[in-house]
Amino acid sequence: MGTTPLAGRGNKPVAKKPGREWKPLGATAADLQGLILSAYPDQLFAIFVMVQFPMSAIARPNGWIAELAPRVTDFTGSRPTCINVAFSAAGLSLLGLTADVMATFSLPFQQGMTTADRARFLGDSPGTWLWSDSAENPNCVHAQLMIYALDQDSLNAALVHERASLASFGLVIAGEILQRVDLDPGGQRHEHFGFADGVSQPILVDGDEIPVNQRKLHEIPAGEVVLGQINTYGVPAPGPVVPTSPIAKQNLQPSVAEGFFDLGLNGTYLVIRQLKQDVAKFWNNMKTSSTDLLNESKQPATDEWLAEKAVGRTLDGKMLSPLGAETGNDMTFFANDSAGFGCPVTSHVRRANPRDGLAPAQSDTQDMINATNRHRIMRRGRIYGEPINHRYTDDGVDRGLLFACMNSEIERQFEFVQHTWLLNPMFGLGYNESDPILGTKCPFSIPSKPVRQRPIIEIFITPVGGGYFFLPSLSALRYLGAIR
Ligand code: HEM
Repeated sequence: MGTTPLAGRGNKPVAKKPGREWKPLGATAADLQGLILSAYPDQLFAIFVMVQFPMSAIARPNGWIAELAPRVTDFTGSRPTCINVAFSAAGLSLLGLTADVMATFSLPFQQGMTTADRARFLGDSPGTWLWSDSAENPNCVHAQLMIYALDQDSLNAALVHERASLASFGLVIAGEILQRVDLDPGGQRHEHFGFADGVSQPILVDGDEIPVNQRKLHEIPAGEVVLGQINTYGVPAPGPVVPTSPIAKQNLQPSVAEGFFDLGLNGTYLVIRQLKQDVAKFWNNMKTSSTDLLNESKQPATDEWLAEKAVGRTLDGKMLSPLGAETGNDMTFFANDSAGFGCPVTSHVRRANPRDGLAPAQSDTQDMINATNRHRIMRRGRIYGEPINHRYTDDGVDRGLLFACMNSEIERQFEFVQHTWLLNPMFGLGYNESDPILGTKCPFSIPSKPVRQRPIIEIFITPVGGGYFFLPSLSALRYLGAIR
């Protein structure tokens, strides 16, 4: 297959596979950590190793990075075992980035997920979290080492190797979260409540090549996820820079800011949240709260009917609509379900991505999609913990979603989705409501005829850890390995 040289970022050409989707080849592909563009669908076995850089004379985190870098998976082709790595702000400071350089990262990343203002904004109480990106948490995570493998034996082998490598550089493991993928017979992943997950994702396109008026429903410019590439404003997504030095010259591209080199180019910000799920509480609440409800045929509603209304999709991943459930991911709300008789306006998927549903008039729908698409996130989460056997009986097992998403502007993308859409009490003209999957205890409006129904939804998801991480390019990784 031939390659098309394109002006991917300023004067830096990017070779790209033909087609609309942004799939770089050549130097850019070799510079990107694979996770940015791939969910590693074949590597069903995964573990996140949370690494700490202790303040001790024997700890050599830069040495570890230099040794790890050749094993880190890029985007040039599939590998049986894939390894990616990301760093918290606390971690980067310990690697030797100066305060001046740290100040060039985005503010939420510098501050961390658990600072008081951000925690309030996100609806979090991080005082008891098991781990975070905060230096005040004894389990502050400095680096997330993410390992994906084709089978359990390969994962174990890679883990043994990486643990030994970490120990040899005097580094400590603050925790490990083993993930799992539960596939249905059709190959679709499901989360612990039982719903198909990972169905709707943005599609990256070249922001120069496909202008906003030619973008389809889920198409967003690559710079919405990849730093240094053209973003929704038609400029390279801003990222951190470092001053000129021999190591910077050797590893990084010059920045548009004269005298600086681009540490951010082809990296991204990775948001990770450990969300504990109480599956029995969820299904018992669905059962209790559905007893007084009627479905569309005016028959007594079931717990599954209410649960599907809460998510906005069927258990097998189809979008709810007034005409039945829709396969595919092309449904828009204004023309097909403006009042939410199929997919409730305040359901999880409709809050998480309102598409054109909040447009005041048909003539505004394209503008609304363009505006909504400025708040998309690339999700990479997987579940952890054993699945429940009997969904109404609490078995005490620790399980949940290790939510992970990537974006180039944390406050405009992840934080906006969480705060302004998911947890907004007034979203979609609602009153005192919240996301029915991960919000607070409150009523949930289900548009119905002749009047809406308003069951009370409990809390089933508790954040128990989380942080903001910088997932660097391979060249930035080599730079970090070399600076000390
Ligand atoms: C344990 C917690 C969560 C569960 C069980 C959950 C479950 C789901 C399910 C079942 C879907 C529909 C299938 C799909 O499109 O993948 C979905 C979609 C989505 N969720 Fe969540 N989710 C959780 C947390 C979050 C969080 C924390 C965010 C962001 C802050 C989020 C953002 C989204 C987005 C953006 C979509 C896609 C909407 C669309 O484009 O149609 N979710 N989630």
